[in-house]
Amino acid sequence: MSDVQKPIPPNVRFTLNGNDIELSASADDTLVESLRRDLGLKGTHVGCQSARCGACTIEFNGLAAKACTILTHQADGANIRTVEGLSKAPDLSDIQLAFQKHHALQCGYCTPGMIMSVRELLRRNAQPSEAEIRAGLKGNLCRCTGYQNIVRAVKALASGDFTDGSDSSDDNQGVGVPVPRVEDRRFLTGRGVYCADIDLPGQLHAAFARSDVPHAKILGIATSKAEALPGVVAVLTGADLKSESIGQLRCEWSVNSRDGASMKGGARSILAQDKVRFVGDAYAVVLAETEIAARRAVKLIEPHFKPLPHNVQTDCADTGAFLFDEATNNVCFDWLFGDEAGADRAIAQAAHTTSIVLTNNRLIPNALEPRAAIADYRPESSSATLYTTSQNPHMARKVIAQTMGFIGEHNLRVVSPDLGGGFGSKIFIYPEECVCLWASRKL
Ligand code: FES
Ligand code: FES
Repeated sequence: MSDVQKPIPPNVRFTLNGNDIELSASADDTLVESLRRDLGLKGTHVGCQSARCGACTIEFNGLAAKACTILTHQADGANIRTVEGLSKAPDLSDIQLAFQKHHALQCGYCTPGMIMSVRELLRRNAQPSEAEIRAGLKGNLCRCTGYQNIVRAVKALASGDFTDGSDSSDDNQGVGVPVPRVEDRRFLTGRGVYCADIDLPGQLHAAFARSDVPHAKILGIATSKAEALPGVVAVLTGADLKSESIGQLRCEWSVNSRDGASMKGGARSILAQDKVRFVGDAYAVVLAETEIAARRAVKLIEPHFKPLPHNVQTDCADTGAFLFDEATNNVCFDWLFGDEAGADRAIAQAAHTTSIVLTNNRLIPNALEPRAAIADYRPESSSATLYTTSQNPHMARKVIAQTMGFIGEHNLRVVSPDLGGGFGSKIFIYPEECVCLWASRKL
């Protein structure tokens, strides 16, 4: 047993949802970690871990508080309530009923935190105006609803009209009548199962070392200090991938240029091999018995980079900052759509013309639920189950099996549990989920 597994005697005591709790916590455990990991209360979600999103909001000594900002030790003697303590099945609390009736939730990831903040808002002000409702909830982000229905639900609560509308009379059936969603009840009570809520027996935790420079050649990566940290099981790098000849992720949707040339989308190693190409490019992964050991070990990895030219503009053809050998001018494809000659003719005959340079800035949707993946490789059947935050599990299965090479598509099961928003960003296949599958097989 490693040092990180040595049991700490119970050292924190508090009241949780009316019950007395005794808990062992290390100095840097946060309350949201202790609630989720040690007490199994997964209804309190983690979005940002930095006090911005409100997904982790709980009630702490009668006030709404973000559990990612509270150390578990600070909870000693506290009175805490989480979403699991708001109602007793099959009943819902007034706020939960109002959220259900007014469709104040979609993916449900923000919902437990939002409900805890609504509780405090109404305790302070039983008749809030719309402006007061919006101000009172500004610490809770929702990416799905646009807030309108949340505001409606709070107004309904203030006016006393919060029933769930489950009227089965003839007047309330047929075309045009809202149908209650089957998933709402579990989201409202904190019983959704999102990817990071899944715990498999004996699972390890992965943390990635990411480049803090935009473009550099990798001269070496020293991992021995990280490997020596108690609780660390392995540190893997792109060199390990290279030695096994696996892990080249390719874009599956190819577009030809106007001259018919095929798209120059370079294959992307699931861990950077010869060079890193952007700030955040993962070049190593630590697998450890605990999340905290994995995160600590990442800080002990020592990369040896030789910086290369970089560019932060879209128009970067002449900076020398070329990312992929096959795309010598950084152009992936040059796509023509429509009738260029016809447009030119029309412009030539126009009474007035205006010129403008249009730049499409970089764009990526952010769901409140961060990406997550858990891989479970079974050597006895050469098969695996990959739980992942995917909007497109069938395509994920195809591409990931193809990328890894060591598993057939028919032997890979991809499970996408409840999804805390995606907005297109979770359609793509990401390197980290492939790394988790590879690491699971190796370890
Ligand atoms: Fe705590 Fe975002 S505010 S996870
Ligand atoms: Fe609010 Fe999805 S319902 S983030």
